[in-house]
Amino acid sequence: MNILIMGGPGAGKGTMSKKIVENYEVTHISTGDIFRSEVGNGTPLGLEAKKYMDAGKLVPDEVTNPMVKSFLETQDLANGYLLDGYPRTLAQAKAFDELVKGSDLEIDKVITLDIPFEKLAKRITGRRLCKTCGHIYHVDYHPPKVEGICDIDGSELYQRKDDTIESLEVRLAEYENNAQPILDYYKDKVVIINADQSTDDVWKEIESALGGK
Ligand code: AP5
Ligand code: ZN
Repeated sequence: MNILIMGGPGAGKGTMSKKIVENYEVTHISTGDIFRSEVGNGTPLGLEAKKYMDAGKLVPDEVTNPMVKSFLETQDLANGYLLDGYPRTLAQAKAFDELVKGSDLEIDKVITLDIPFEKLAKRITGRRLCKTCGHIYHVDYHPPKVEGICDIDGSELYQRKDDTIESLEVRLAEYENNAQPILDYYKDKVVIINADQSTDDVWKEIESALGGK
C-alpha cells in the first residue's frame, strides 16, 4: 500500500507515521527527516535547506523534488511506502505523479490529520525528540519517565530548532496556502482523520481508514 500522510505542523504526522510503518511494514519517507539528516551532516543540500527550515519556510521545489527522486532510488519499496511531509505543494504533487505514473508506486490513500490550528502551538512548543532513536515525546501529553531522557535508550532529548512560535506561524501559513490544492488534486483518495483526540483514538481512525495490509 502507498500512503501519503498530511497535516499541519504538529498535527501528529511523525507520531502516526511510526505506527503506520510498524503495522503496515511500509517504507517511511519523511522529507523533514531527510532534510534534518542533511543539516546534521553539514552537506551542501543541508546548508541550503537550513536557511528555509529554521524560518519555517518551504525548501524550494527545485531542491526538494530531485532530492526525493534520488532518495526513492535508494529505497526498497516492494511493500509500499508512507510519504510524510511530501508532496507539500501542488507542483510537488504533480512532479511526484509524473515520476510514478503507470507504475505500482502511485499513491493509494491520502490520510489527512485535521486539527484546529490553535491547538498546534502547545504540541509544537512541548515536543521533545530523542537524539539517538528519534522517538517523539511531549512534555505534557507523552512525557518520558525521567525528564529529558529517552525511555527507550537513555539518550538525551532535544527540541527542534524550528519549534518556536515565530517559525510555527510561518509553517502554518505555508500549510494553509498549500494543503487545499493538494487535497483537491487527490480528492478521491483523501480520508480526513480527526487528529484532535488521544493518539490511541487517532490511530483507531487511521487503522479503520487503511483497513488490512
Ligand atoms: P516536517 O519535519 O515535515 O515538519 P512539519 O510538517 O512542521 O511537521 P512536524 O514534524 O512539526 O509535526 P508532526 O505532524 O510530525 O507532529 P508530531 O507527530 O511530531 O518539515 C520541517 C521543515 O522541513 C519544513 O518547515 C520545511 O522547511 C522542510 N520541508 C519538509 N518537507 C518539505 C517539502 N516537501 N517541501 C519543502 N520543504 C519541506 O507531533 C507533535 C507533538 O504533538 C509531539 O510532541 C507529539 O508527542 C504530540 N502529539 C502528537 N499527536 C498527539 C495527540 N493525538 N495528542 C496529544 N499530543 C500529540
Ligand atoms: Zn531514544
